[in-house]
Amino acid sequence: MCGIVGYIGKRKAWPVLFKGLERLEYRGYDSAGIALLQNGAFSVYKKKGRVVELSKFTKNQNQLSGGVGIAHTRWATHGVPSDRNAHPHLSSGGDIVIVHNGIIENYLSIKKILVGKGYRFKSDTDTEVLANLIEDIKKHTKVEIDEVVRLALAQVSGAYAILVLSKDEPGTMVVAKVGSPVVIGIGKKEFFVASDATPIIEHTKKVIYLEDGQMATIKNSKLLIKTIKNKTIKNPYVHTLKTKIEELEKGGFPLFMLKEIFEQPKSLADTMRGRIVLDKGNVKFGGLEKFEKQLRSINRLTITAMGTARFTGLIGEYAFEELAGIPTKVEYGSEFAYREAAVDENTGLLAISQSGETKDTLNAIKEAKKKGMLTLGIVNVIGSSIAREVDAGIYNHVGPETAVASTKASTSQALLQIMLAIYLGRMRFARGLSKSKAKGILKEMQKLPALAEMILKSANNIKKLAKKYKNYNNFFFLGRKYNVAAAMEGALKLKECSYIHVEGMNSTELKHGPISLIDKNFPTLIIAPIDSMYEKNKSSIQEIKARGGPVIAITSLGNKELENITDDVIYIPKTLEMLTPILAFIPMQLLAYYIAVERGNDVDKPRNLAKSVTVE
Ligand code: G6P
Repeated sequence: MCGIVGYIGKRKAWPVLFKGLERLEYRGYDSAGIALLQNGAFSVYKKKGRVVELSKFTKNQNQLSGGVGIAHTRWATHGVPSDRNAHPHLSSGGDIVIVHNGIIENYLSIKKILVGKGYRFKSDTDTEVLANLIEDIKKHTKVEIDEVVRLALAQVSGAYAILVLSKDEPGTMVVAKVGSPVVIGIGKKEFFVASDATPIIEHTKKVIYLEDGQMATIKNSKLLIKTIKNKTIKNPYVHTLKTKIEELEKGGFPLFMLKEIFEQPKSLADTMRGRIVLDKGNVKFGGLEKFEKQLRSINRLTITAMGTARFTGLIGEYAFEELAGIPTKVEYGSEFAYREAAVDENTGLLAISQSGETKDTLNAIKEAKKKGMLTLGIVNVIGSSIAREVDAGIYNHVGPETAVASTKASTSQALLQIMLAIYLGRMRFARGLSKSKAKGILKEMQKLPALAEMILKSANNIKKLAKKYKNYNNFFFLGRKYNVAAAMEGALKLKECSYIHVEGMNSTELKHGPISLIDKNFPTLIIAPIDSMYEKNKSSIQEIKARGGPVIAITSLGNKELENITDDVIYIPKTLEMLTPILAFIPMQLLAYYIAVERGNDVDKPRNLAKSVTVE
């Protein structure tokens, strides 16, 4: 977790670093800090709380004049959030300053040795240990700082993206990466370094993504990349960024989450753009074209993801079985990476991740590769670690998602999996999918952006419901078939934004225990569109009402029946059963958003969370 930013060049470093930290705040936001190299010494400014707290230091601009600096926004792993544990960390003698995203696993044994040598520690972090280890090696060798860092890294195990400055070499910045992402932006005689490209985009479009086990030295306006094992990398690949700066701004909405919810008509259209071949009843994915042979040999599928992405995987699971006849299982990335799953080279792995950086999902891919599986990805962030790790992949193309609670990425993930199920179903002759059936689904799919627009037009009704339900402490969210996953995702959305306890589950599961909690203070939201499960869902509603529980139903537009047996009804337009969760997500996102706003929460950055979880 955590976000890191570095700048070395001819401008003042502070504004570049501060703005960069704001862009990376989604990666963690319990404390932040900036270190500048000024007149031969480091000045470190750090504070518990959000990045904005650092603006307290900007009163005396003269103090902040350095043209070289590194910065950090933190999501605590070792040590509580505090000024003391905030990065950057200085070494004991003040020679070295460092920011770090990741975990140094053997820091305690290194710390013991350093304490024995007389080093004193001001924080509880693993990072300060690394700062002192670097200083210690520097004292005892006569080599330049990049070589000192390389020697230090040979002694540590774990995951890291680090930026290091040495006060004795003011024109040099050292960057290294194992397991955590880092991007280097190349300007004119200036360089920008960050955990992802968002802090860089407004300065330069030319970037290099460091690979695992690589380090970079920026010295006298030149960039040198080598491996931590000391092999020079000649001609590293320079990517050209395509994201526009406006895509990173709020565009008139009060918060990113609301902006991203309202972007869904467009993001659903962008997900499908250029991929639907209606007359052939098929779908095409540029990233999969070269893998057709391997894809044909897949007879089982494991979907791996975490959080929201995993819930969308449960929609995929039903679609791959229904449309392609491929037995499918959804796994937490964190479990698949460590347990002995019964898979073989004919089992495909599909990793789903908005950020493309989720460590648990990344570990699962690495494990799958060891097992000889074909690895596929559905990823939003272009050039991210997962996008680069998988054998083949599909991008969501929904643009940057900034609010911690995932919205537009989730509807796109669900949609892409149904599209992929059609693609795989159409290439399988035995249990395959007919052209006419595929065509029917694709036609309905193409209506989704307009249907999403209709739901968003009634956002004010959901705002009213939010006022009515904001003070409850518990909720159940229920659904059947494809909408079990929707209920679980809706529950996650409400709990993470509003801090209300919410459980999402299959409507029938309720009577096997959870119903004992139902009373007048325990409302239930049930997704009950007119579909094959409608009558069964209606029975669940009756069971809850018989026990005095308030019920909100999400049902199909035009179905007035539920108004008589529930407390409140939210309408979504009619579509195919397998596509309903994509529409049902939207009112639940709005409900979570408006309830959280009513409760005065920081909706874009809920407490204790981070958008991209790059630790296990
Ligand atoms: C975090 C976020 C969730 C997200 C999950 C997986 O927990 O708070 O919103 O669903 O990570 O993230 P990914 O980037 O892999 O989709």
